[in-house]
Amino acid sequence: MDEPRGPKPITFRGMSLDIDVQELTPDQWPALEKLFGKNGACSGCWCMFWRMEEGERFHDVKGASAKQRLKVLVEQGRAQGLLAYVEGEPVGWLTFGPRRSFPRLDRAPSLQCDDADDVWSLPCFFIHKDFRGQGVATVMLKSVMDTLRQRGVSTLEGYPMKPPAGTTRLSNASAYTGTVPFFEKQGFKLVAERPQGKQRVRKSLAPRRSMRKRS
Ligand SMILES: CC(C)(COP(=O)(O)OP(=O)(O)OC[C@H]1O[C@@H](n2cnc3c(N)ncnc32)[C@H](O)[C@@H]1OP(=O)(O)O)[C@@H](O)C(=O)NCCC(=O)NCCS
Repeated sequence: MDEPRGPKPITFRGMSLDIDVQELTPDQWPALEKLFGKNGACSGCWCMFWRMEEGERFHDVKGASAKQRLKVLVEQGRAQGLLAYVEGEPVGWLTFGPRRSFPRLDRAPSLQCDDADDVWSLPCFFIHKDFRGQGVATVMLKSVMDTLRQRGVSTLEGYPMKPPAGTTRLSNASAYTGTVPFFEKQGFKLVAERPQGKQRVRKSLAPRRSMRKRS
C-alpha cells in the first residue's frame, strides 16, 4: 500500500514531531539554500556533483559556481527533489531524476547499466546534522517511491555505499547515497554487487494492483 499522504511523525530528542515532505518547487529555493548552509550541503557541492558534464572537474565547479547552477536549475524547474520540513524548517533533501539527467553518474564505469533511458535515479540525500538518526531519510525514501510511482516511473535505482568489511557504520558524509540495508528495507534489490564502494540497487515501481475483489 502507498503511504498515506501528509505529515509523518518522527521521534526527535524524545519528542514526537511531524515531518512534512514536499516536492521541490522554484519558490522553495530559499529553504534549500538554508538547509545546505555555507558548505552547500558538503564540500561546496550544492547537489551538482552527479550533474557535471564530461570534462568538468568538481574542483572547478564546487562553491559559488555550483550554488548558482543549482539555483538556476531550481528556478527553471529542472532540478527535482523532495524537501522535508519540521515545524516549517527544512531538515532534509533528496534529489531524483531520470538517470540521464545525472551525466557524471551515468558515465561512471562502475555504475553502468544497459537500460539507462528507462531508469530514474536517487543519487543523493542530505539530512540536517541535528536531525540525523531519527528516521528522516527513511521517511523521504518511502515518500519518493510513492511520488514516482504516481508519476508512472517504473524503475528506480539507488547507489548505496557498502561499509568496509567488518563494520556496519560509515561516516555520515560518505553515506550520502544511503547504505545497502537502508534501501533493502524498502524492497530494493542489489543488481550489481561490488567488493566495496557504491553498489547499484533497484526497485520496480509497477502500479499497485487494486485490492478490491471482483464481484
Ligand atoms: C546518511 C544520511 C542521509 C542518513 O540520514 P538519516 O535521516 O540519519 O537516516 P535514518 O535515520 O532514516 O536511518 C536509516 C538507516 O540507515 C542507517 N544509517 C544512517 N546513517 C548511517 C551511517 N552513517 N552508516 C551506516 N548506517 C547508517 C540507520 O542506522 C538506519 O538503519 P536502521 O533502519 O536499521 O535503523 C545522513 O546522515 C546525512 O545526510 N549525511 C550527510 C550526507 C551528505 O553529506 N550529503 C550531501 C552530499 S554533497
